[in-house]
Amino acid sequence: MRTLVIDHPLVAHKLTALRDERTDSATFRRLADELVSLLAYEATRGIRTTTVQIRTPVAATTGTALADPKPLVVPILRAGLGMLEGMVRLLPSAEVGFLGMVRNEETLEATTYADRLPENLTGRQVYVLDPMLATGGTLIAAIDLLFARGATDVTALALLAAPEGLARLEAHYGGLDLDVTVVTAGLDSHLNEKGYIVPGLGDAGDRLYGVV
Ligand code: URA
Repeated sequence: MRTLVIDHPLVAHKLTALRDERTDSATFRRLADELVSLLAYEATRGIRTTTVQIRTPVAATTGTALADPKPLVVPILRAGLGMLEGMVRLLPSAEVGFLGMVRNEETLEATTYADRLPENLTGRQVYVLDPMLATGGTLIAAIDLLFARGATDVTALALLAAPEGLARLEAHYGGLDLDVTVVTAGLDSHLNEKGYIVPGLGDAGDRLYGVV
């Protein structure tokens, strides 16, 4: 498993504004969207491409195009939806599938309540969107499902990650021959007793969409 913590002043600046409790939902959504586009640039470094022949107005040349099958982007509902636009702006030809997962706030374990993914993901590169990599339970459940359907590699994009969650992913995938990458804008200090990332940014779903 690979972990990439993006070290870039623009990312740090936007992440700080995102964390600030005074940031309202509309601004939070815009910042999350901008951050995802910055993460997506690094997260797609290994995306499969093919060589194509084109003509410019001046000459024939060889270029690069995304290969088939097209990548699949999977936001984990609900908070992952706040990352979707920023991702597909860079990958407009990607397909989008949805996974609804909810964390039991007592056990912190994830259960799946919605699965709108292709049954067969053989040969597909998949990008999972989940803003908060906290205990890692939700992400492991999602990634296991994607590999069970045949995905070749899975890259998870998280706005923030906790060391405990990353360690759990390492322990789960470290000894397996599975291609897993985590890309995040920040690696925080720890999880508190409620499973929240510290200092974090609070409940990402609530900050994006309000408390429901
Ligand atoms: N989910 C959130 O929205 N925030 C956290 O800090 C942890 C999990």
